This record gives sequence, C-alpha cells and structure tokens, in this order.
Amino acid sequence: MESLPSFVRYEQHGICLVFDLRRGATELVHAGGPLPACEDLTSLSYAMRRGRHASQADQPVPHSIIPHAGWGDDFASSVVLQGQSGPLTLRLTLEAVEQTSQGLRFIHCDAVNGLGIEIAWQIQGSGLVQSQTTIVNKTSEAIHVLELASLALPLPSWASHAVRYSGRWASEMQQRRNPIEQGEAGGASFGGRPGFGGSNWIRIESADAGQQQGQAIGAHLAWSGDHRLRLIRNADGDAMLLLAARLDPGEITLAPGTNFTTPCALFALSESGIEPIRLAFHREALARTSPKPAPEAPRKVHINSWEALGFDQSMPKLTALADNAAAIGVERFVLDDGWFLGRRNDATSLGDWTPDPILFPDGLVPLIRHVQSLSMDFGLWVEPEMVSPDSLLYREHPDWCLHLPGQPRPTQRNQLVLDLTQRPVVDYLFGQIDALLGNHHIAYLKWDHNRELFPLAGKGHDQAQALYGLLDRIRAAYPQVEIETCASGGGRVDFEILKRCNRFWASDNNDAIERLRINAGWFDFLPLAMTGNHVGPSPNPITGRRLSMDFRAKVSMFGHMGVEADPAAMTTDERSNLSAHILLYKEWRDVLHFGTLSQLADGRDGLFGWLAMTPSKGLALIAQTIQSDPYDLPHVLFPGLSHDANYRMRLLRPWPERAAKALAQPDFWGKGTVMSGRSLTLSGISLPLSQPATAWLVSLERI
Ligand code: DGJ
Repeated sequence: MESLPSFVRYEQHGICLVFDLRRGATELVHAGGPLPACEDLTSLSYAMRRGRHASQADQPVPHSIIPHAGWGDDFASSVVLQGQSGPLTLRLTLEAVEQTSQGLRFIHCDAVNGLGIEIAWQIQGSGLVQSQTTIVNKTSEAIHVLELASLALPLPSWASHAVRYSGRWASEMQQRRNPIEQGEAGGASFGGRPGFGGSNWIRIESADAGQQQGQAIGAHLAWSGDHRLRLIRNADGDAMLLLAARLDPGEITLAPGTNFTTPCALFALSESGIEPIRLAFHREALARTSPKPAPEAPRKVHINSWEALGFDQSMPKLTALADNAAAIGVERFVLDDGWFLGRRNDATSLGDWTPDPILFPDGLVPLIRHVQSLSMDFGLWVEPEMVSPDSLLYREHPDWCLHLPGQPRPTQRNQLVLDLTQRPVVDYLFGQIDALLGNHHIAYLKWDHNRELFPLAGKGHDQAQALYGLLDRIRAAYPQVEIETCASGGGRVDFEILKRCNRFWASDNNDAIERLRINAGWFDFLPLAMTGNHVGPSPNPITGRRLSMDFRAKVSMFGHMGVEADPAAMTTDERSNLSAHILLYKEWRDVLHFGTLSQLADGRDGLFGWLAMTPSKGLALIAQTIQSDPYDLPHVLFPGLSHDANYRMRLLRPWPERAAKALAQPDFWGKGTVMSGRSLTLSGISLPLSQPATAWLVSLERI
C-alpha cells in the first residue's frame, strides 16, 4: 500500500475541500471558500478536534465521508450489505487517494470481506460538488447491496437548521425550516420516482442564515427513481447528511467481480448566505441542459390545450385555439392529452401513439401546418412509459407491464406502467416516438408520467436506467427537439432527468397564489428558464379561486411563460392584459432567464418578491397574496446593486388597477425615476401592497 498523504486539499471554481487523512479515514476538515495558500492544515484540523469522552471507542474514529460501524463510528452506516451468510460488517481501510483534473477519488478496501469502495468527488464549473460511490465485489460470492449512499456529508458545527421540502400533488416543494435535533430526520420516496414529497432536496443553514448572510449547504440527489435522505445528529452533537437511491432488498446483487455505481449527489457550499447556493444550482442546471436548444436560446411562449380544452379535442376547436393564441402573441402550440387513438378520457389508449382517425382524419399534419402558418411551432404531449389496459398495445402484449405473475394488476389513473427493463418494450417506444418525430414538424415533447410505479418488484433502479437510455436515444436521433419532464406536475424533477430535458412542469396547480409558494421552492434549485409557468383559467380548476388576469400574467412571467386557458373564454380586457404581459415577457426574457435571481421577499406575511438581474438590467416581481396586516409594508429593497451606480427605475404597465389608485404619486411612478444603487439597496421603495392578489413589475436599468 502506498503511504497516504497527511492532507488532501482540493480547490477549484471558488470551492475548497480539505481532508485530514492522518487517522486513516477521510476526515473533512474544511468545506467552503478558498483558504489562504499558507493556511497550516495541521493547525486547522487540530483546532477543530475534540478530545475523547467517556462514552466512545478507546480510539475515537473520525467522522468520514463513508461512515460505517466496523471501527466504532457511531453514525448510521452509509453502506449496508448482505452476504450469503448474513449481514456484512464492513471494516474499510483507506488505501489510496487520486487527485486528477477529474477530481478526487478515495479508494477503500475491506480485505476481510473482499470489497472495494471508491468515492469520487468532483467540483463542477458551476461551483457544485458532485459525489458518487462505487462498490466492487472482489469475492467469489454474490453480495446484496441494501444501501449505498451517493453522499455522506459530515456537517460543520455551524449547521443548526435544515430547510426541508414537503408536498403533494398540486402543492409541490413547500419549504419548512427547523432546527436539526438529535436523532434522525428522514425522507424517502417509494413510488419509483422522486415524487411530490420533495425530500430529494435539502438546505442546511447556520442559525443566522439569510439571503446574503450566514452559511449554507444545498444538496440534492440527481436520480429519477426512489431516494432516501437522512439527516442525523448524534449524542455528541455531530450532524451528518446522507443521500442515497432507495433500494429494495435484492434489487442490486453484485455477482463476483462486478461493481455498482450510485447515482450522483450534488451539493453547494456558501459562506455568504442562501443566494450563492441558489445561483450555483441554477448555473449547474443550465450547464447540464442538453445542447438543443442552446441553453441561452429564448424560451418560447406556449399555449397548452389541457386546461383550455381537456379531452374535448377536434380540428375546429384546436385550430380556433391556435388562431386565438397566435393573436395574443403565443409562439408554440402544445397539443396535450387526448389526440391519439380513441383517447376521449383517461381510461383508454395509452400505448397507442397514433393520431385518432376520427379527430384527425388526415393525421396531425394539417393541424401542424395550421399552427406553423400562424408562425408558431408545434409541441406534442406523450406519456410513453404507461399503458392503458384498454389499448391495442395491452391486448397485444399483456406482459409488457410491471406485474407479478398471476397476481391482480392494480391501476392508478386507470393505467399500468410499462416494464422498460424488457428490451422489446423500449424498442417499441422508440419506434413510436421515432415515427411521430420523424414524420412531423414537432419542436417539443411534453413527456408525462401520471402514476407511481408498482409493483416494482426490485426493478426500480433498472427501470430508471432504462428510461435514461430511451431518452438518450431520442435525444441523439432528434437533438433539436425540446423535452419537458412532467409527472402530474413536479413528481419527477431531478438533475439526472434534466440532463435530458429542457424544462420541467412545476405543478398542475396554475393558481397564481399557489404557484408563488410552489415556485419559491423550485427556484431554490432551478432557474426560471426551466420552470414551466402558465396562466391558467379563472376560476382555477383545482382551487376554485378567481384571480385577475393582471395578477396571473405577472406571476407566470417569472418562469418559462405559457398560457393554459382558452383566450376565447377571456374578456377583451383580459386578452389585452395578457397580450401586454406576453410582450413584456418577450422583451425581458433574456434578463429573466439568464440573469441572477435574488429573493426580495420570501412569502412571510403573504409577500413574495424576486429580482432577475444582469449587469445592466433587472426585472422584479413583487406579489402580495393576502391582505396585509398594516397598510404599509416595509419597503421593498433591491440587494446586490452597485452602490455607486445609478439605475433608471420604472413601474412597468399594465398596473394592477385597484392598487394603482393607492400610489402616492402616480405621475412620478409613470415617468420612472433615477435612483442610486445605494438608495435602492438600503432605503428601497414603497408600493401599494395591502390588497390580496396584487403584483407589480419593477424594472431597473443601469445608466
Ligand atoms: C398531467 C399533467 O401534469 C397535465 O398538465 C396534463 O398534461 C395531464 N396530465 C394530461 O393527462
């Protein structure tokens, strides 16, 4: 065995990681910003080390990035294995460390059990750190992997609070901040996808953390199957975060001589508040997006037929919808569920991906031509991973779905899940999508996924890999086609599927008040450019709430804007208000999508606020959802502006009608004004925000 260095210092892209290896383990002694070149690492490590206490192993074991009980570490193990004759107790020894341009690799060996475990950490250009674990079976027996963490991160002593995400259908990514208590707080998914529960995302904070102050870590498991998150504080007060794919017993069995590599976990580190965490994840998301369209290409305004027509599709209705959408400035027409063989409701036809001959006697081409004649491009909804029991596909191949032989086949939304681990199934799906994309001008696919995967029977991991394989094949054949990941809204959003998709459907809930809450959670990790955000009908079909067009349109501008309502059902005033906002979106989308996103208000007291800012221009949304307690709320402050620069500030029209009456100096606001960055940052502006469902757009231009 080569002798190990005492320390490893890995520094790139503004991130510095230092490991003390002197005790034969990967003891993380610094994770954060760069340290001075002359920093004495021995002093750094000793300064943080605690003496032994009575209730500990005689040789205290340092907390490593692969905690396991064999040497007396008292955190939960990040590796759980089962051999032929029972559980395996690991005794890992760190054998070597490789530091290359590809990052760091820690190579461990368990000579007694005949195992090798490697942990690879890589600092990405975005500033995110990627972590992945590989296990190699060097024995002559099969080994079952019950758990193998992608990331085990010993948390710094400032880590006192965690922001966890929870949710359900139509209410994704609700943030909850709580102290990290002694014991274990966990989250997991069991439906074969990340699900609506949001526990594949987490932020750890110091007690004083705010947008621009305090310390923070954001972490995520980039995996489209089930996951498990564990946040543990032990009796010594030390805390650890573990992220792993959730495996069923027997799901991963390593034959002799084979290996298994986990999905990637990603984490960001900040010493200056929450904002840098958000921006690092946004950079990473945009960098991972498939090259087509170029990450910086303008995001077209969509119309989606779902909340406009539902299953009530016909050529006259669809062409009228297209005409009305084009008239208000829409750029892409998306034909949602209901267009294929016999699909008149959600009980039939999934799997039969050919246009319904009654609705479309000449196929989809005439509709696509009509859409193109209006200068829009065409998008199509598909749900390839599913099959309806009432379909040609199911009648022909009843064994292509996930099922247990001889057992009932439980449905959800009247559908079953195709077993993508069977090669003919993915070949069939590729053939169907190839026929659609190869024979039509289709610019975009909305790839839906409307049920949980059961019975998975230990196939979850392979099913997710097979989905990636299918998406990769489609992307390779049709690189110019954009894909949206949708799972009844945000049920399958993660950085691995987003390598293959350009945008995600954040929620089925288009109620603008609910969307502000939901999007606030997504924006913690994902940029506006990828967040599908549509103007829905009023009353909203999910909440029943009525909201003005002005409010709905302003909220939907902060995302990848679309319309999911029938313009023909709107009043003339509503249409012109929407059209004005579409125009504003087109004017500002570069700033919205590729500027940096600061949070101006976090939803407390009902107030949400965002500022997207490039070096020269910015656009802010300030949105009040409830009636405020006082008439006058604290001023809206614009952080991050250059104090010495001057900015032309305007309150963009259309203004919210009722609130505009409460403006102190309408003329002043109408003309716009010039203020210093200092005043905007420290004194801010006062806007009428006491009425529920009031939103303002404030533009800033550096002069
Ligand atoms: C669920 C999606 O989230 C909706 O937007 C819509 O596409 C329906 N499925 C269609 O069945």
